[in-house]
Amino acid sequence: MELSGKRIVLGVTGGIAAYKAADLVRQIIRQGASLQVAMTEAATHFVTPVTFQALSGRPVYTDQWDARVANNMAHIDLSRGADAILVAPASADFLAKLAHGMAGDLLTTLALARNCPLLVAPAMNRQMWDHPATQRNAAQLRRDGVGILGPAVGEQACGESGHGRMLEPDEIVAELIAHFQPKHLAGKRVLLTAGPTFEAIDPVRGITNLSSGRMGYALARACREAGATVTLISGPVHLPCPHQVVRIDAGSALSMRAEVMRHVEHSDIFIAVAAVADYRPEVVTEQKIKKTGVPPTIKLVENPDILAEVAALPKAPFCVGFAAESEHLGEHAEAKRLRKKIPLLVGNLVHESLGGEDAAVTLFDDAGRHPLAPAPKLELARQIVARIAHLLESR
Ligand code: CTP
Repeated sequence: MELSGKRIVLGVTGGIAAYKAADLVRQIIRQGASLQVAMTEAATHFVTPVTFQALSGRPVYTDQWDARVANNMAHIDLSRGADAILVAPASADFLAKLAHGMAGDLLTTLALARNCPLLVAPAMNRQMWDHPATQRNAAQLRRDGVGILGPAVGEQACGESGHGRMLEPDEIVAELIAHFQPKHLAGKRVLLTAGPTFEAIDPVRGITNLSSGRMGYALARACREAGATVTLISGPVHLPCPHQVVRIDAGSALSMRAEVMRHVEHSDIFIAVAAVADYRPEVVTEQKIKKTGVPPTIKLVENPDILAEVAALPKAPFCVGFAAESEHLGEHAEAKRLRKKIPLLVGNLVHESLGGEDAAVTLFDDAGRHPLAPAPKLELARQIVARIAHLLESR
């Protein structure tokens, strides 16, 4: 539950995407937040307040003159104590009113009278979004400190395709969660590797390992939440790419290394989370190896150590390594850190972390060992990000 204890006001304006706001309400509540919905009159033509009332468990407000608010100041009361106002979908008309400080209905008045952050998820036809007036308004809103989420590119309700589609509810929730994270890595460029590698033997077989990629993906997300631009070079995993992370697929250690080398020059931080196979078959047979009754001998050769190579670059980024050990974590991890010449290494015991949602890790750096309490991988990833930021600052 990433939004526990947060109070969110969700504004819904008139647009086809209003139907997605119903799912958004469920997802925000599932993350532990309490939610107050306020709608414009236009929004009620798309979805009724009853839907939002049932989903949020609270009366929905549509009118600034609503007599249910004791002092008749709904526009003030509804946002007091809120941690953020989120407007999704935000129509072109709403953005225009907001940019000009107009306050003719409940939602615009709420936005003007707020004392908390405002995030908007625009949703409109692509020509409306591309129109200079809307672009001017969006630029003004950004200058005013309003967070603009999306819009996405894609198919639109009108049958056209382009910019203007509202982000999906899960992406909006990811942005909302990210909004509350400290921006430890603002402006930094992070490159990560994650997941296992697959070293082909023949067209249908190969050598791989049990890495799920979860820790690497959690770190990619945590870096993005902390304000970094993130590129994730990923081995074969079954995980969705975190919102706003650029993912590049790499199968083998050699292709992973090639992708890392292609991107590393533009990186401030390199985090090697991938469980790269130490060895690969020397020869990949073109045709499938047939069963002949004589077991084949597969000669292995060593793979390059991507992390060590990056750490040895003349203009090396700040390098972070991972060590998965089955015993003697402290000794092995510290030895690995010194051997690879990296400032920070995250060590864990495989039986405590592999594949699961939770993990227990210890950070090793020049200041010593820092064990982190067992926690979900995303939580650990955020703590690792905070440590990276601290070490970067004190460099
Ligand atoms: N790593 C890498 N390239 C490799 C092997 C490892 O980039 N070819 C990175 C991993 O992503 C991880 C760190 O190096 O961040 C530690 O990997 P590990 O395989 O545990 O280190 P080794 O030195 O190979 O030690 P071990 O004997 O435990 O395999």
